[in-house]
Amino acid sequence: MIHQLVYYSRNTVPGGDRAMLTNMREILSVSQRNNSRDGITGFLIFDKTWFVQVLEGERARVLETYGRIARDTRHSSATIMNECDTQARLFPNWTMGGAMRTPEVQEVYLQHGFGGPLDPVRLKSEQIVSLALDLQAYEVSRRQGQRLAS
Ligand SMILES: Cc1cc2nc3c(=O)[nH]c(=O)nc-3n(C[C@H](O)[C@H](O)[C@H](O)COP(=O)(O)O)c2cc1C
Repeated sequence: MIHQLVYYSRNTVPGGDRAMLTNMREILSVSQRNNSRDGITGFLIFDKTWFVQVLEGERARVLETYGRIARDTRHSSATIMNECDTQARLFPNWTMGGAMRTPEVQEVYLQHGFGGPLDPVRLKSEQIVSLALDLQAYEVSRRQGQRLAS
């Protein structure tokens, strides 16, 4: 059984887009290192206001990782949206994928009915997971395109 946990939190990373991207690269790089050690996979969606993250793996490892994340001062008010056990991972190839909301991925948001700002407080975890899966697919095809072009 794979344990899946979805939470949202308020982004308190300071600075403009550039500073935020630098901080996010750091967060993702540490996450990828720890998560590959702990058998955790998942996806992190973020904009200037929110983080929404899907964590999946062995239950104890997921809870341990979430406990560490929840104490991080780069965000606040971490709130679990859903926890469940599933048969298989949804993000098996991502020790932690990440997608910032940029104009480039706006189309994906629109396909999910998110024209305006994301408001995770009002969303169901299924909507987040479904958006994350499409952002993952978008990222995969973007990377493939880059490889073909080079
Ligand atoms: C939004 C957000 C998401 C994070 N996601 C992860 C994660 O998936 N895995 C992880 O190990 N750390 C994650 N972190 C970082 C942890 O809070 C913490 O800084 C890190 O796990 C400490 O690792 P270390 O003890 O190896 O230095 C995240 C932090 C933030 C702010």
